[in-house]
Amino acid sequence: MRGWNTSRSLRLRVAAAAVFMLPAGFALRGLAQHIETSTFNSSPLRPKEDPKAVARGKKAYEANCQSCHAADLRGGPGPSILRSQGALTDKNGENITAIIQGQDKMFPNHKYAISNDDSAAVAAFIRSNLALIGSQGRAPGDGTQKLNVVVGNAEHGKQYFEAKCASCHSAEGDLKGYAKKVSDPKTMQAAWLRGNHLGVPQPTIKVTVTQTGAKPVEGTLIHVDDFLVTLQLPDGSVKTIRRNGDIPKVVVKDPLEAHRNLWPVLADNDIHDITAYLVTLK
Ligand code: HEC
Ligand code: HEC
Repeated sequence: MRGWNTSRSLRLRVAAAAVFMLPAGFALRGLAQHIETSTFNSSPLRPKEDPKAVARGKKAYEANCQSCHAADLRGGPGPSILRSQGALTDKNGENITAIIQGQDKMFPNHKYAISNDDSAAVAAFIRSNLALIGSQGRAPGDGTQKLNVVVGNAEHGKQYFEAKCASCHSAEGDLKGYAKKVSDPKTMQAAWLRGNHLGVPQPTIKVTVTQTGAKPVEGTLIHVDDFLVTLQLPDGSVKTIRRNGDIPKVVVKDPLEAHRNLWPVLADNDIHDITAYLVTLK
């Protein structure tokens, strides 16, 4: 899965660099044949967004997305939306809504319960920001704004921790002295939220593939989608197996599944409260 992300962002960098070097009005048709997903609607070719939708989207973004992606979209614990291929190629909310609602195959656990109308408005707000990007991946503005993540209530965070996290962690056990180990709160928030893009080491994800009549094949998961599963076998070799629906049977064991399942249910306040609590574990 990480291989995928890398190639995606590489492709994006190439595509975006190409588009930004072009003078306005340059015919993009020939170029589009060389890039898999064009950034046709990148600035300055983007149509102007409806200001009402943008205002509504800004509110919905602040309530539902900002704690992870930051007020300026550059990312907090979540990845930067300014570099998101899905967001950069969004025209009418089709990509962004799919990403928000967990329908994008790249981000199946990224599922947030916000209405279709609000999703469309958030998409308009994001596009209106992307139209202002100075150079690829740089936030609009002077880029000096700092995100303070320690704004939560540590006491609430402790209660949440005891209810939802204590089955696997303990303040006196594995997380003893955690704030000494990870002293930057922003890094800490990224570390406990554990996304794929966060620059945080990911534990190995194991997979077992069982083909009818054959011995199960076990290894480390490299990639899985509806059509293929790729894994590395214990001898180091890499194997790709075609899938057709549920055949062969694929069982993925992700040690961080509990964390990924938390994303959709964690409210902004919960995230801040937990981080504020973890900061006290000195
Ligand atoms: C709890 C944290 C969290 C919240 C809240 C959140 N996201 Fe995300 N978002 C993430 C993480 C983590 C990823 C990367 C997921 C992955 O790698 O599987 C991500 C991925 C994305 C991406 C794709 C980035 C890329 O690299 O292409 C977009 C776009 C996005 N989020 C938009 C949103 C929007 C819009 C909202 C609000 C409706 C939102 N997110 C709410 C954490 C969050
Ligand atoms: C079902 C078990 C489970 C639950 C529930 C769970 N975690 Fe975790 N957590 C893990 C595993 C597994 C790891 C990854 C260990 C690794 O990277 O090898 C982890 C990693 C972490 C880390 C990083 C530790 C380090 O050394 O970097 C923190 C912090 C953390 N979890 C906090 C939380 C918080 C806060 C909650 C509740 C909101 C929570 N966890 C819920 C299993 C769980």
